[in-house]
Order: sequence, then C-alpha cells, then structure tokens
Amino acid sequence: MSDLAQQHDLTLRQDYFADPSAWNALVDLLQDTFSIDINLQASFGGPDPSSMPSGYFDADGRCVANFSAFSMPMIINGRSVKAAGYQSGAVRPEWRGRGLYRDLMQRTFARTKAEGYELDLLLTDKPALYERYGFRALPQHVFIAQTAKPQQSGQTARQLSLETPDDVRLIKTLLQSRQPVSARFAVTRQTEMFLLNAGFNTAIRLTALGDDTVIAWTFDGATFWLLDVVGTTMPSLAAILSALDLEPDRIEICFSPDRLDCEVSLEPYEGYTMLMARGKAADDIAGPILLSPMAEF
Ligand SMILES: CC(C)(COP(=O)(O)OP(=O)(O)OC[C@H]1O[C@@H](n2cnc3c(N)ncnc32)[C@H](O)[C@@H]1OP(=O)(O)O)[C@@H](O)C(=O)NCCC(=O)NCCS
Repeated sequence: MSDLAQQHDLTLRQDYFADPSAWNALVDLLQDTFSIDINLQASFGGPDPSSMPSGYFDADGRCVANFSAFSMPMIINGRSVKAAGYQSGAVRPEWRGRGLYRDLMQRTFARTKAEGYELDLLLTDKPALYERYGFRALPQHVFIAQTAKPQQSGQTARQLSLETPDDVRLIKTLLQSRQPVSARFAVTRQTEMFLLNAGFNTAIRLTALGDDTVIAWTFDGATFWLLDVVGTTMPSLAAILSALDLEPDRIEICFSPDRLDCEVSLEPYEGYTMLMARGKAADDIAGPILLSPMAEF
C-alpha cells in the first residue's frame, strides 16, 4: 500500500480498466472534471489497450485522482519513435493540494521510463505543472495552403457515420494500416483517440475516398480545415479538394503537410492547450509541426 493511500484511507489501483466499476469511476471523474464522456469509446471497441492508468479510489469506489499513460508510436523526421502520451490527469476538488497528483505523475513517469519510452508527450493548459519534470512546450503552427486548382477527380467520395458499424470498421481498418500523415511529426498508430475525437466533435466530417482513404475535415462555408488523412497512400491536396467537390476561400492544414504535395505558409497555432515534450527524442523535433486534432489526447 502506498503511504499516501494509507494516510488518506484510499486505495491505489493501476491498470484497472478490466473492472467495470473502476472504469465507470474514472468516467465519472473525467465527466465531473472536464465535462467529457469517455464512455463514448464503448461503441468503438473500448479504451486503448495500451493504456496505463493509475488512480486513487475512496472507500465508496469513487475515483478521486487519476493519471494515465498510453503508447503513442510516432514518426519524427522519418524515424519511428517509441513515444508515450499522458492523459486523464485529474483530482477531485476536495482532494487537491495533498500530493495525490504528484504521486501519480511520479509513478507513471517511472513506469514509462522503465519501459524504454524515448519521448513523452502531453497537452495541457497548465505547463508549469510539468516543467519541473523536464517537459518543454513545443510551438505549433497551422499550415495555410494556396487554394488549389480543381482537378478532375476519379475518386468517389462517401460520407461516413460513426453510427454505422461498417463505417467504423472501415475507419478502424485504415487506422491500423495507415501511412503516417506526415514523415516529420505524426502518430503512426492511434485508433481510440481518433474515434473519440471524431465522436466528441460533430462538426468533424469523415469522408471515404474509394475504400482506401478516409479524410477528416471541417468546412464553415469559407474555410476548409484538413484534420487528418488516413490511408495507405496519400492523395494530394488538390485531389482531396476535387474529390470533396470544394473550392474554399481558405485552407488550413492541421498537421505537418510534407506528404501532401502543396505550397504552404505558416501561422502560429493558438490552441487552448499547449503541446509539451521531454525525453531523448524530443531534441529531434524540428519545427514547424502540428499534432493532428484527430490525435489529440
Ligand atoms: C491540476 C491538478 C491535477 C492538481 O492536482 P493536486 O492533487 O492538487 O496536485 P498535487 O497536490 O499533487 O500537486 C502537485 C504539484 O503541482 C503543483 N500544482 C498544483 N496545481 C497546479 C496548477 N494549477 N498549476 C501549476 N502547478 C500546480 C503543486 O504545487 C505541486 O507542486 P510540487 O510537486 O512542486 O509541490 C488538479 O488541480 C485538477 O484536477 N485540476 C483540474 C484538471 C486539470 O487541470 N488537470 C490537469 C490537466 S493537464
């Protein structure tokens, strides 16, 4: 038993997702803290099997504090990197200021270090919390593309729905076999966060081009945001726009567009959270970069 658990009459539990009551207690903690419902994942096949949650639970089975790591393999400047993402960090208000979060962070960081992760990534609105553990903010940029000339498209575009099991199956298959969207900075394998992000934001459209590529995008009538391209090959930006039959006034690409065959200019990305990194592979990250919103965690 940990000292903190003993002191506060709590139980420390790790890797507890197989226990439905403990999973539901985490769902409640994240709902109460961030107003998000991660139970949405149930309809897509459940949480990421690589997840390494650590939490403190009270005598009633409530999860009062949690911090999780998960495996998030990346490609950075052409090299495969064993990276860990950190998420689901929260402490119930009445339990704050007692070192529970410090304890969970330290346990989790020790674990991923022992397992040989060479890059640690997180998204936060509280960078000071992580700077003391060696995390540094990575500036991100959005990529503004020249509006491309429409091309003749041989592709059929089909709108997908997360409510349709066959569509979810197609997306999952492509997420498993995809080429990373960028060779400079991208996740190579991430299924659960992609589906969860798509489920959270109903403005995100998922469109299949043929049966080997899915485009994640949004459009407000003037600006087109290209969020991700999931496929075994990478169509050009012009081919994507033609297949979607769009001629937007402005195009924002929300990932490093090195594989997209287009000219871009940069604008600083001003998100609500900051991307932070540490570890020996962190020095290899040379900007400009942007983590696809579909890989946000
Ligand atoms: C942020 C949060 C997890 C801290 O939990 P906590 O149990 O009070 O934290 P601890 O008592 O373990 O403190 C850990 C350290 O973080 C520091 N800290 C706490 N809140 C902080 C904040 N908002 N900003 C910067 N540092 C903070 C503490 O001073 C302490 O520093 P130390 O280790 O040098 O002494 C909690 O306030 C919370 O759940 N907030 C809402 C959700 C959230 O923001 N989660 C983090 C998402 S990235």
